[in-house]
Amino acid sequence: MAAAKKAANDIRKGLVGVVADTTAISKVVPEKRMLTYRGYAVHELAEKCSFEEVAYLLLMGELPTKSQLASFRKKERAAREITRPHVEVIKRFPKNAHPMDTIRTAVSYLGTTEVAWGGEPAKKDLERAINLFAKIPTMIATDFRFRQGKSRIKPKADLSFSENFFHMCFGKVPPKEVVRAFDISLTCYAEHSFNASTFADRVIASTRSDIYSAVTGAIGALKGPLHGGANEAVMEMLADIGKPAKAEKWLRKRLANKQLVMGFGHRVYRWGDSRVPIMRQCLEDLSAWAGDDTWIEISDILENIMVGEKGIHPNLDFPSGPAYYLMGFPINLYTPIFVASRITGWAAHYLEQNANNMLIRPLSAYSGPAERKVR
Ligand code: COA
Repeated sequence: MAAAKKAANDIRKGLVGVVADTTAISKVVPEKRMLTYRGYAVHELAEKCSFEEVAYLLLMGELPTKSQLASFRKKERAAREITRPHVEVIKRFPKNAHPMDTIRTAVSYLGTTEVAWGGEPAKKDLERAINLFAKIPTMIATDFRFRQGKSRIKPKADLSFSENFFHMCFGKVPPKEVVRAFDISLTCYAEHSFNASTFADRVIASTRSDIYSAVTGAIGALKGPLHGGANEAVMEMLADIGKPAKAEKWLRKRLANKQLVMGFGHRVYRWGDSRVPIMRQCLEDLSAWAGDDTWIEISDILENIMVGEKGIHPNLDFPSGPAYYLMGFPINLYTPIFVASRITGWAAHYLEQNANNMLIRPLSAYSGPAERKVR
């Protein structure tokens, strides 16, 4: 009885404040509004590096030299294409399925094409990680084309990771500043310590299961609107508001009804999300490029009230939702784009968990009926 009482007192619902393990991949310093990948500030990486360099850093632990980057790029570009049966599987997905459900299933399909158990040599898993990194955009774009009744566009090896994604979705590559904003968004989304999907990935890795299973589970966790799904919810909210003149009334009604305002708040960053300023700059550049200030004007009204009156700051999804909208992506593709980026962090965590593994298995305090007889 005393042990049960103690267990109930020890509960950390939502694992709030629990440090579950060490990681050398990223560090969140909320009081400094700072996020680092392998020691480098993310805003500096976003300004000075391509997403391919950031992916290399997360997977290998160091920024690449020129020749390391060239060979990493060559490997990624050579692995982009998916097999004909894989294309056929994607073609058969129901056209009204959410693209997060189709990318989850398409990644899981890749896991059926080889027998992988997990706990294997890191070199083998690293190859699988690069394969997933290269193929996920192709799976997303293939599904995107088919659901519109269009034929697929094959990946092109002479384009960068970001250029190629635009090419596979739309058949053309937009101006440099648009590609750069997309690339920066991928860097911002790539990694964020023990967030829900990464923790799900590590839990699966800790059972000595394979990387495909871990990434499939992580995609399922990312889909939720309290996690990755928020960038879609933000744009739906902005579109629902429609005009700057309606924003304040809309927000006040929502707050009075004690409803959440999407794109605000964060479990870890109580004083603001370190990734917001650089993504906000991208949103401003995209708004100027598109000649459309609507979303930035609505955003400013919401932010002023949320920060000024509630002390709740915007998170990365707040500027990235409208940024993806201005880039021309449909709303239901925003979280799959997050997958195309976060695969780098998930893969790095999968490898890290495997390198020093212990099964993740917490306890629970039982709250059901007392012990009883069947008859
Ligand atoms: N809109 C309105 N109120 C919010 C809010 C939001 N987006 N985020 C937090 N709050 C309020 C809570 O209702 C709570 O108010 P209360 O004390 O009167 O009950 C208070 O702020 C503290 O929030 P809390 O519930 O402790 O935050 P959390 O750590 O449990 O939740 C999130 C963090 C991210 C789940 C939450 O802020 C949220 O749901 N945000 C919207 C979804 C989103 O943008 N998710 C992306 C995260 S990167």
